[in-house]
Amino acid sequence: MRFFCRENWGQQLRQATALVGLLTLVSGCDWMPGKPKPAERWQPDTAITDFANLYQTQCAGCHSRDGRMAAARPLNDPVYRAFVDPKIFRQVIAQGVPGTTMPAFAQSAGGLLTDAQIDILVQNLLAGAESDRATLRLPPYRAAPGDVQRGAVAFQTFCAKCHGKDGKGGPTGGSVVDPNYLALVSDQALRTAVVVGRVDLGMPDWRGYVSGRPMTDTEVSDVVAWLISHRKK
Ligand code: HEC
Ligand code: HEC
Repeated sequence: MRFFCRENWGQQLRQATALVGLLTLVSGCDWMPGKPKPAERWQPDTAITDFANLYQTQCAGCHSRDGRMAAARPLNDPVYRAFVDPKIFRQVIAQGVPGTTMPAFAQSAGGLLTDAQIDILVQNLLAGAESDRATLRLPPYRAAPGDVQRGAVAFQTFCAKCHGKDGKGGPTGGSVVDPNYLALVSDQALRTAVVVGRVDLGMPDWRGYVSGRPMTDTEVSDVVAWLISHRKK
C-alpha cells in the first residue's frame, strides 16, 4: 500500500483508484506531510467531556479561538453572554440555525454531540453570566421586528456614521444592506449584532452608538426591521 504514496502521486493515484478504493489508499499513507498523527486526529468521541477540547474542535473554527476576529460572533463577550436567552442558546447549539452555516450539533438533529456534551458547552460558555444579566438592563433577546419607517430614522441616528447614510458602507463599517450578506444571516443574528455589537471588529453595543444615548428597546426592533426590509423578496 505504501508504495502508492511515494512520488508521482497524481499518476499513481489514478492507477490506484482503478485498483483499490481511494479511502483504503489514503488511510495507508500515515507518513504524508501535514497529515495529523492518529492521536491528533479529531475523533467523534462521545466520551469527551473536556470543555476546552469540545470548544476548540467544534466551535473555534467559526466563533474564534480567543474571542477575536472570526466569521461568527465571539461567544465569550460578557455583554453577549448576559444578552442571550440560555434556553435558546442551548437550542441553537443543538438544532443549528437553518439557512445559515451554524450547524446542528445534537445527534437527534444529525450532529455529532451527545446531549451531555452540549450541556458541558452551555454550562461553560455561560458560566457566571447570571450576575451580568442581573446588573445590565438589556433589551430582550428575542423580539418581533418593529417598524421599518421608524427604523430608517433610527439607522440615521445610530448607525449611518459608520455604515453610511444608505447602509451600503461608510468610513468605519461595511455594507449592512448587501443582499448576499442578508441572505446568509438570520433575523436574530442581526438583532444580536445591533444589541451586542462586535467588540472584536470595532462595533460598539446598543449603549455606545451615540454617547450618553442608549437605543431604546423599540429603536432596536425598528432598526432590525429596516435591515430585514433589504432582503431580496
Ligand atoms: C461552520 C461555522 C460554525 C460552527 C462550526 C459553529 N458556529 Fe455557531 N454560528 C455560526 C454562524 C454563522 C452563526 C450565526 C447564524 C445566524 O445567522 O443566526 C452562529 C450562531 C451561533 C449562536 C447564536 C448567536 C446569537 O445570535 O445568539 C450560538 C449560541 C452559537 N453559534 C454557538 C456555537 C457553538 C457552541 C458551536 C460549537 C459547538 C458553534 N456555534 C459552531 C457559525 C458556526
Ligand atoms: C462606531 C462604528 C459603528 C456603528 C455606530 C455601528 N456599527 Fe455596525 N459594525 C461596525 C463594524 C466595524 C463592523 C464590523 C464589520 C464591518 O466592517 O462592517 C460592524 C458590523 C455590523 C454588522 C454585522 C455583524 C456581524 O456579526 O456580521 C451589522 C448587522 C451591523 N454592524 C449593523 C449596525 C447597525 C444596525 C448599527 C446601528 C444600530 C450599527 N451597526 C452601528 C461599526 C459600527
